[in-house]
Amino acid sequence: MKGVTVIKHPLVQHNLTRLRDKRTGPQEFRRVLGEVAALMLYESTRSFAVEHVSVKTPLAPARGWQLRREVVLVPVLRAGLGMLDSILQLIPHARVGFIGLKREETTLRAMFYHKSLPPDLSQFEVILIDPMLATGGSAVAAMDLLSELGAKRVRLVNLVAAPEGIRRVRQHYTRLPIFTAAIDQKLNERGYILPGLGDAGDRLFGV
Ligand code: PRP
Ligand code: URA
Repeated sequence: MKGVTVIKHPLVQHNLTRLRDKRTGPQEFRRVLGEVAALMLYESTRSFAVEHVSVKTPLAPARGWQLRREVVLVPVLRAGLGMLDSILQLIPHARVGFIGLKREETTLRAMFYHKSLPPDLSQFEVILIDPMLATGGSAVAAMDLLSELGAKRVRLVNLVAAPEGIRRVRQHYTRLPIFTAAIDQKLNERGYILPGLGDAGDRLFGV
């Protein structure tokens, strides 16, 4: 699918399979989700803009590179929190915004319960983080909010994506780059991804 990068790196796929396995309990789920998030970050930030910079080594001047823009990480609560810490270890200078969204169980509509973001996102590289892209309702709601705040450069990072969710995001945000470890088969009648990994928030936090 256009604009969707499926990260097929063996370590990503190995970890994804451990997360899918229902025998993986919350403690291991948290650790492995963190590991896979860090691996996915490499791929999803490959096209970050950089600019030349000069430094002096102890021996001589050297030309190098630095990121052109500041980075804002935006995990979607709750499950996005499981990917945040390991990404922050790789981009420790990043700012962090939070979006709280809960899918209503029957309508599957995503409802906001928390928003905490820089007021102007126009100058930032934004990484929107959520393990699951199912109907796409949460991702579109989150993107609407980021767009209202002026975000121009957003990447969406999902561990598992359903075709239905990708299509919905594409209808609204035609050029948004999406990075995922898997495009699964479909949604079931309750809006869960098949085969997926179950409810990511519940598996992370045991509730
Ligand atoms: C899950 C998941 C996504 C959303 C995806 O969150 O983490 O945010 O569902 O579904 P969608 O694409 O159909 O909107 P949920 O609302 O269950 O909240 P939680 O993370 O607190 O468990
Ligand atoms: N949210 C999840 O956590 N899992 C799914 O399969 C769908 C939505």
